Amino acid sequence: MNHEVNTLIDRLEQSGSLDISEYEYLLSKRSGEALEYVAKKAVIARKKVYGNTIYIRGLIEVGNICRNDCMYCGIRRSNSNCDRYRLTKEQILECCHEGYEHGFRTFVMQGGEDGAFSAGRVCEIVSEIKKLYPDCAVTLSLGEYKRAEYKAMFNAGADRYLLRHETADKQHYEKLHPSEMSFENRMRCLYDLKDIGFQTGCGFMVGSPYQTLGTLAKDLKFIEEFSPQMCGIGPFIPHRDTPFGNMAAGTLELTLYLLSIVRLIKPTLLLPSTTALGTLNETGRERGILAGANVIMPNLSPLSVRKKYELYNNKLCSGAETAEYLNELRARMERIGYEIVIARGDIKE
Ligand code: 5AD
Repeated sequence: MNHEVNTLIDRLEQSGSLDISEYEYLLSKRSGEALEYVAKKAVIARKKVYGNTIYIRGLIEVGNICRNDCMYCGIRRSNSNCDRYRLTKEQILECCHEGYEHGFRTFVMQGGEDGAFSAGRVCEIVSEIKKLYPDCAVTLSLGEYKRAEYKAMFNAGADRYLLRHETADKQHYEKLHPSEMSFENRMRCLYDLKDIGFQTGCGFMVGSPYQTLGTLAKDLKFIEEFSPQMCGIGPFIPHRDTPFGNMAAGTLELTLYLLSIVRLIKPTLLLPSTTALGTLNETGRERGILAGANVIMPNLSPLSVRKKYELYNNKLCSGAETAEYLNELRARMERIGYEIVIARGDIKE
C-alpha cells in the first residue's frame, strides 16, 4: 500500500481539490490497490448524493456531416469513406416519441458541426420537443457556436449543453485538431455556455495521442476550477480512416481511475459511463458505474443510421429495439446493485 497515494485520495475526498503536481503524482502512482481505494471512496460519494439510481439519456445522433477535421474522429470532414446523413425534424421527433414511451426524460441531440443545423434550426427543433414533452430535458451536443446563438438555444428551452474540452493543454489541443480550430474558442464556448445558464458538460478522451500525465493533471485541475455539471470521459479508440488510425487505444484501468478521481472532485457531478468504455470492454459500462459514474446514454437514433455515426471503429451499436436493449441494461445494472430511474435527472446541487 502506498501511504502517500492514499493520503492524497483522502484529502481529495475531504476538499475536492489538489495541486496540479499532486494530481500528476496520483496518476503516476496508479496501481490495482489505488484503483480499488479511490473507487470505493467514489462510490460512497456518489451514493450520498444519488443513492443507487442511474439516470438514462436518450442519445439522438442527428447527423454526421461535419465541417471540422479533428485528427481522432471518424466523422471528420476529410473522411471520404464516411456515409453522411442528416435526420429531419420529423425523424428527431420520432426518436423522442419512442424514447418517451420507454421512460426517457432527457433527449440528447448530438451531431457533427453541420451548417444546416443553424442556431435557428436548432431552436425550432428544441421548441418543438419542449412543447411536446414539457416534462423532459433537452441536451445539445452540436459543437461550437457564437454566444448569441447559444443564448437563443437556451431561450428556446434547451437545458444542457455538452462540449468536451478534449484537453486542457493548448499545445496538446493543437496536436489533436487542425489549425482552423482553437483552444481559446473551445474554452470561450464553455464559459459562455455556463454563464448563459446551461447545465454544462466538458470532458476528454483517455489515452488520446500525445496525452501525458501532465496534460491529464491539467484536465483534472480544469474540471475542478470550471466545476461543470456534467463530464464525459471515455477511452480514445482509433478509427482507421483518420490520421490516428494506428495509434493505441486508451485503457480501461486509467479511464476508471480518472472517473473515480473526478467523482471525488465533484460528488454531485453527472458522470456518464460512456459508450466508448462499453466498446473497449464487454462489462466496461458496469465497471464505470462501479468506479463512480451515475449516467448512461443509450442510443435512440434510427437503426438505419446507427452504424454511420462511427466516431471510432467497432463503436458499440446495438441492433436491438429500444425496449429489448433497455431490459438488458436494466438487468445488468440490477446485477451490480443499481437501478435505472425514469427522471429528468438534473444535477443535485
Ligand atoms: N475515440 C473516442 N472518442 C472519440 N470522440 C471522437 N472521436 C473519438 C475516438 N476516436 C469523442 C470526442 C468528442 C465526442 C463526441 O466523441 O471526445 O467530443
